[in-house]
Amino acid sequence: MAIIEASGLTKTYRSRSGPVHALAGLDLSVPEGTVTALLGPNGAGKTTTVKVLTTLVTPDAGRATIDGVDVVADPQATRRSIGVSGQYAAVDENLTGAENLEMIGRLYHLGRRAARQRARELIEVFDLSEAGDRPVKGFSGGMRRRIDLAGALVTNPRVLFLDEPTTGLDPRSRLALWGIIEGLVGHGATVLLTTQYLEEADQLADDIAVIDDGRVIAEGTADQLKAQVGGHRVVVTLVDGDDREAVVTALRRYGVGDVETSADGRTSGIAVDAGPQALQRVLADLGEAGIRLHDAGMRRPTLDDVFLRLTGHAATAADEGAPDGGGGAGAGRASGPGRGDPVPAAGDATDSAPERVR
Ligand SMILES: Nc1ncnc2c1ncn2[C@@H]1O[C@H](COP(=O)(O)OP(=O)(O)O)[C@@H](O)[C@H]1O
Ligand SMILES: [Mg+2]
Repeated sequence: MAIIEASGLTKTYRSRSGPVHALAGLDLSVPEGTVTALLGPNGAGKTTTVKVLTTLVTPDAGRATIDGVDVVADPQATRRSIGVSGQYAAVDENLTGAENLEMIGRLYHLGRRAARQRARELIEVFDLSEAGDRPVKGFSGGMRRRIDLAGALVTNPRVLFLDEPTTGLDPRSRLALWGIIEGLVGHGATVLLTTQYLEEADQLADDIAVIDDGRVIAEGTADQLKAQVGGHRVVVTLVDGDDREAVVTALRRYGVGDVETSADGRTSGIAVDAGPQALQRVLADLGEAGIRLHDAGMRRPTLDDVFLRLTGHAATAADEGAPDGGGGAGAGRASGPGRGDPVPAAGDATDSAPERVR
């Protein structure tokens, strides 16, 4: 049995504008020691899935287990084996990085010495030495993320949940965080991470579960998913939109599936099997026909391409806003060996910052 199992999870929230089916029969299976990415746009149900699996939200129906333990029937035992880094970093602004980690250790009943020692180790691992002794208030987004992630690791959980660990980070911080996550997995942890970025799933995950409207609509390795939308796309932008017929014909000759053309008619693209060769041929044909190009190239499928293919709609869902209120330091985190459990049974309260607009 996989270490994370979910079947038929449903969750409906009531909102002013009527019921929202956040989860609509979600199935998931994550083998021990692997990384699975839940990939989906804003509002797909990623955070709700993480909250159900980490005992912060009770599903309306369905069943989920972590290491064989039912998350609804036995939340205390579940929390002992998991760590969570929520979508918005849950840290105390006025404490230093090291103090935050030490506090979490103390909350989980580590002795003072052990808590301090663990905090120091994590500060080192996460390359936060210079920041460890400064209040979190002054931290950059990337440093906050790292401290929050370190917090989820204080108790050495076997299963780690990371909800959009790099959303909103600059590219350099993102790369640094990817390195850290890869290191974790190298040490045997099982990771379920959520992301809006195909590239991130690609880089980190063994398996990807694409989710939309509260269910898993496709699963597989990054390569398998990309194969579904064609390995590459050839995209051509014309100087003069009147030439579009010729471009569409050429693209169709060497591509698979439908040609997509922008509203102004100047940019057209198609999925192709062998990118470089297809691009060469398209360019040769257009050159022969004397068609002037503004731009031409090959690109990897994006999350939007995968979504478009799988669902018929683009992945750029409208911003839903932060649905949840409240959630101070520690909310949104569930981890640890504690007997008295410090994790607030917060109902639905975790997030507090606004969702990122895509
Ligand atoms: N506490 C809540 N109350 C009302 N609606 C919610 C609540 N939490 C989430 N939702 C709605 O449920 C859907 C799924 O949300 P969520 O799981 O946060 O998606 P994701 O993390 O993929 O962006 C969205 O439409 C969201 O607005
Ligand atoms: Mg979310």
